[in-house]
Amino acid sequence: MSAIFEILDKDAGGRIGKLRTPHGIIETPTVMPVINPNIQLISPKEMRSFGAEILITNSYIIYRKEELRKIALEKGLHELLGFDGPIMTDSGSFQLSVYGSVEVTNEEILEFQQKIGSDIIVPLDIPTPPDVQYRRAEEELAVTAERLEAARKFIQGEQLLAGPVQGSTYPELREKAASHLKGLNFEVYPLGAVVPLMESYRYAELVDVIAAAKKGLSPASPVHLFGAGHPMMFALAVALGCDLFDSAAYALYAKDGRYITVTGTYHVEKLNYLPCSCPICSKYTAEELKKADNREELLGRHNLYATFAEIRLIKQCIKDGKLLELVEQRCRAHPRLLDGLKKFYTHSPWLEQFDPATKGTYFYCGPESASRPEVLRFGKRLERFSLEGSVLIRTGPVKGEGSYDQILTFKAPFGAFPVEMEEVYPFNAEVSKFPDYEALSTAFINTLKLMDLNPQAEYTFICEKEFRHPLIEEISKKAKLVYREAWKKE
Ligand code: GUN
Ligand code: ZN
Repeated sequence: MSAIFEILDKDAGGRIGKLRTPHGIIETPTVMPVINPNIQLISPKEMRSFGAEILITNSYIIYRKEELRKIALEKGLHELLGFDGPIMTDSGSFQLSVYGSVEVTNEEILEFQQKIGSDIIVPLDIPTPPDVQYRRAEEELAVTAERLEAARKFIQGEQLLAGPVQGSTYPELREKAASHLKGLNFEVYPLGAVVPLMESYRYAELVDVIAAAKKGLSPASPVHLFGAGHPMMFALAVALGCDLFDSAAYALYAKDGRYITVTGTYHVEKLNYLPCSCPICSKYTAEELKKADNREELLGRHNLYATFAEIRLIKQCIKDGKLLELVEQRCRAHPRLLDGLKKFYTHSPWLEQFDPATKGTYFYCGPESASRPEVLRFGKRLERFSLEGSVLIRTGPVKGEGSYDQILTFKAPFGAFPVEMEEVYPFNAEVSKFPDYEALSTAFINTLKLMDLNPQAEYTFICEKEFRHPLIEEISKKAKLVYREAWKKE
């Protein structure tokens, strides 16, 4: 393998990839557990047993503490942490965003990361928070750009260099920053300053920020979502094209007595049962976990198991072409995630170019499914069908259909398509027998468009009388509309 990042499988904007680092190849998407060089709830050595392939730590914390710095410089970062796999190091930018300043320059921290043998080096970018004035976001972006250019000139060897994309909550700045950095050929592109968006559940804006940055980058580059550690939003972020996450959440949450699940977080004091079968949850009851002397450690372990289980499920879903089904399920965990899902599908025109033409069976999971890239793609390709003579559009086989010149199947959310394509992806979809407003909307819009493209044909449209929708009126103007007995067994 020669490329640093190789993409093996794709689904929507998501992918399974291999990233080559000086300490080995990792499979993405993955989460990098955050190791605090000062306090270790769970040892770095043990992280592999949860599924971790790469760790992340903070070079600034090491740099600032004499005894850590000495060991790191003499024996190297890997020896310091006791982990021989890949380790990414952050630069102190997060501390900069929290405390307003740091006692190190970009050059100093780059050189330090290089010397201690970091696998993925991060320059001292400026994490511009959300909602700042446009001017400030632009100015800080210019400083970040200078530092990243300096970093690119300085780091040229085996070690990978990350080029963080900033730009606050301005999608146009995010995209501009990303396309500028694309020209500098960083090995990894983290998306920065998104922690405040995630902390306040601003998932819709997060989606726009990720999509904007991705549009500016090459789809061949690996992307890291800085500070994203809650598994409930991994599927959504992966579907947008994020490959790496880093989690301090497993430890921070454990410290607060919080128990992570993919549908949200529980306070352990409020748990009567443990809804998980990881080794911790299999061994302890909720009562025992609450009272355990090492409760924080046990919670940290469960949180890591839950986190990596989700990564494995996401990867399986990519293999099976089921990532969007998972995204739609996960985004039902919280109304603000549902907002993120709705925002996600406003990017379907962009996602459509990455989405495989054929994959696992499309499942209609709710009104948002009507906006999936597959539905949009079909709507864009209606020109391919030419219709003549008497055309029957029906939801399922009807008596006497042999007398028509052409037969189309009507299936929401797609609309009418040639009956011969019923078994072809995505028309072999599993859909609701009771199509909702959104499914009927896209289906009728596509069907009307198809009729407009072929005005010479004569249409008969047979559907269930329960298909109530304002557009049925339009259909009846262009076709002889016949209602059939509803929901009859086939
Ligand atoms: N950790 C969380 N957010 C950021 C960011 O924007 N930049 C860096 N370097 N680290 C982070
Ligand atoms: Zn568990």
